[in-house]
Amino acid sequence: MRFAFVIPLFSLFFVLVNGVPVPEDIYRLALFFLMTQIEYCFINMESLATPRRVERDYAVLLVLGASTVALLLSRSKGPLPPGPMALPLLGNLPQMPRSEEWNTYAEWAEKYGDITYLTIFGKPMIILNSLKVVRALMNERSANYSNRPYSAMNEFCGLTWILTNADGEAHRIRRSVVQRYFSGLAAVKHRSHQQDEARVLANNLLKSPELIELHLKGHAASSILLGAYGFRVEGAKDSLVQQMDETFEHGNRFPGFASFLLEKIPAMRNYPRWMPFSGFRAYGDLVTRIFQAIRADPYERTMKLIASGKAAPSFVSTSLDDLAAETSLSDKEREERVELIKDCACVMYGAGTDSSTATMGTFCMILALHPEILKRAQEELDKVTGGERLPTFDDERDLPYIDALFWETLRLIFRDPTVFTNPDQFRPDRFLGEKGKQCRDVLTLVWGMGRRACPGRQLAEASLFITMATIASCFDITPKSTDPLPQLEFSSGFIRRPKLFPVNITPRSSKWKEILEREVLPAVYS
Ligand code: HEM
Repeated sequence: MRFAFVIPLFSLFFVLVNGVPVPEDIYRLALFFLMTQIEYCFINMESLATPRRVERDYAVLLVLGASTVALLLSRSKGPLPPGPMALPLLGNLPQMPRSEEWNTYAEWAEKYGDITYLTIFGKPMIILNSLKVVRALMNERSANYSNRPYSAMNEFCGLTWILTNADGEAHRIRRSVVQRYFSGLAAVKHRSHQQDEARVLANNLLKSPELIELHLKGHAASSILLGAYGFRVEGAKDSLVQQMDETFEHGNRFPGFASFLLEKIPAMRNYPRWMPFSGFRAYGDLVTRIFQAIRADPYERTMKLIASGKAAPSFVSTSLDDLAAETSLSDKEREERVELIKDCACVMYGAGTDSSTATMGTFCMILALHPEILKRAQEELDKVTGGERLPTFDDERDLPYIDALFWETLRLIFRDPTVFTNPDQFRPDRFLGEKGKQCRDVLTLVWGMGRRACPGRQLAEASLFITMATIASCFDITPKSTDPLPQLEFSSGFIRRPKLFPVNITPRSSKWKEILEREVLPAVYS
């Protein structure tokens, strides 16, 4: 019983220092008590006979107690937001949803409120579950909450140059370079090639509608590469698109245990290559090399096109022109600026392609499931174009229903019933009229907030709008099988991708087939 006093004393000490314990602390405390009890029995049963053993066991107990105190005090001061109870070491890993994570997060929101606190292998994270807290943290306290958590893996693979990974000053410089060319008025410059690309997509869908997935991806890739590098790709099978895909796959395939160890012990990045189990060093070299290649290769393609006079104006060519005009720079400064241009151009492809492809895929599946919505969209388009031509950006202000259709497609991930009544229903009308303004205001969240908000927003909005208008104006889209009617399902992950079901895509009439053949363009750039 000599150690029984430890329990209440320790509890008092803990509450004084750390405040009211959260469930995770109670769990840790329980573990600590268990350890003291085991140690107590151990001392009583084995050590009483020899005083030296007693001393040794006291020492063991002291070390154990001190480390537990350190562990308990490692929790940041002040109460943490509530969340599901975490296990030692694993944290909340076993409770993390494997699919349709938004449902679990919604359940947690009901149980724990607007902010849910989790840990995974000791790494804390929070889930923000209401617009109010997202705005309060990401917008109003953007300076505090816009950095990425340190990632030893990113450093190990040489990926700190990527805008989405960069922090502080490196992030600020890259963002301002990107925004100068892709946001605000500058985004308008891209409209002509965005309209062309919408028509190239229509042409591809006319010729081989069954390849819709590849066509959508090729379309997104070309639209962004044209803006960033000034060249288009020959569809999703283009070597560059494949190279980009493989790069991201390689990044994802990095051995999980090695990345866990690296995050826990960053010094592992210097683990000698001649030692056993050093395979992860070679894998790190490979990932570094292939990421460097996708940074350098498209840039080289642009340089060749510029040299041959065939490059369309782009972020790279314009930035190089601006650089050439700055005569006061030293050679070193000039080299640094070129590296910065490479950094910024490369990230646009990675950040923009999948999100745009997923949005257009969702749009096509929605049209197949809601013929009444497609019909209404076509009626509006016909009123503006006279049913005689494809839409252009000049028609934009006369197409409020197409605009609402665009917003409702993006809205599908927003399910707050207090803002979007019956969130399971696809209803573009919610974005029309006075009430529509409030819905749009909320939906700006889809582009993120604060210093990390999407710098490709205007580019994406314009490209998606003209592509949706073009596809809706000339095609009928129906599910290949209607018994049973397919459901629109999404895969889980960082980007919510629709699972495409087989659809028929046919010109609305023989007149529309003629219009398409007359107006759609083959590849218009090199
Ligand atoms: C449907 C289309 C798109 C959606 C929904 C979308 C959404 C987002 C969101 C929510 C973020 C913020 C992520 C965060 O908080 O960390 C983001 C960041 C970003 N987006 Fe987009 N995006 C889209 C298209 C694009 C396009 C077309 C481009 C480029 C051409 C682009 C470039 C970027 C970049 C570079 C970032 C990182 C910004 C930073 O870390 O400072 N996005 N996007």
